[in-house]
Amino acid sequence: MRVVNINQAIIEKLQKSGISNLMKSLESCEWLVIEEKDGKIIGAAGIGGFFRFSSIQIIKEFQGKGIGKKIQKELIGESKSKKYSFIMVLFNPDNLSSVNLHTSLGYKKIFRLKYSEKHINDVCGISFNKSGELFFQLLKIFNTKIGTIFLGCILKIFKPFFRQLLGYNEKNLPEPNISWMLKNFEKI
Ligand SMILES: CC(C)(COP(=O)(O)OP(=O)(O)OC[C@H]1O[C@@H](n2cnc3c(N)ncnc32)[C@H](O)[C@@H]1OP(=O)(O)O)[C@@H](O)C(=O)NCCC(=O)NCCS
Repeated sequence: MRVVNINQAIIEKLQKSGISNLMKSLESCEWLVIEEKDGKIIGAAGIGGFFRFSSIQIIKEFQGKGIGKKIQKELIGESKSKKYSFIMVLFNPDNLSSVNLHTSLGYKKIFRLKYSEKHINDVCGISFNKSGELFFQLLKIFNTKIGTIFLGCILKIFKPFFRQLLGYNEKNLPEPNISWMLKNFEKI
């Protein structure tokens, strides 16, 4: 296991192992923790974007063997040593392995983002200091109906900047629909 900064060689290695086809956002990270076997990347976790969102992906045949937990722990430790105030993650609440992995390591739920029927994510984070804690308290406004309207407007305005802000680069993401978001609001 090692920590690497993203560069063209690492992106090519991620693509060669097939891992970034499964989790495109890994290519938008600033740095990664990678686990390799026979020169091939079999697991990677990284942080990217202004809001320090983390992504993690383990190649299917190596899942459930403790690799995810090991590299996620390293990612948290490295984030602390880089003096970050917080890190965040987005995961689908139905993705039990991801929910269990992140909550067992201290990620706390902040709000549920129902962007569209296909894109439902819990926004979670770990704060490392008072500024991080304060930021998460502010984000909790999005855990209310009024906050959801505000969030919908922000998402509409900032959609072209998701890659820079969130390290999120899924193609063909629909326009956020504020009335749908409001109708389907779920407090967590
Ligand atoms: C989510 C993922 C990273 C977990 O990595 P992993 O190496 O398979 O997980 P680990 O073996 O380290 O297990 C970590 C924890 O997850 C839980 N877990 C693992 N597999 C699970 C499963 N199939 N169902 C429920 N919980 C599971 C366990 O609680 C485990 O904690 P424990 O060992 O303390 O009990 C991996 O399954 C994966 O790459 N999934 C696809 C991509 C993804 O969903 N990424 C997250 C989105 S941000």
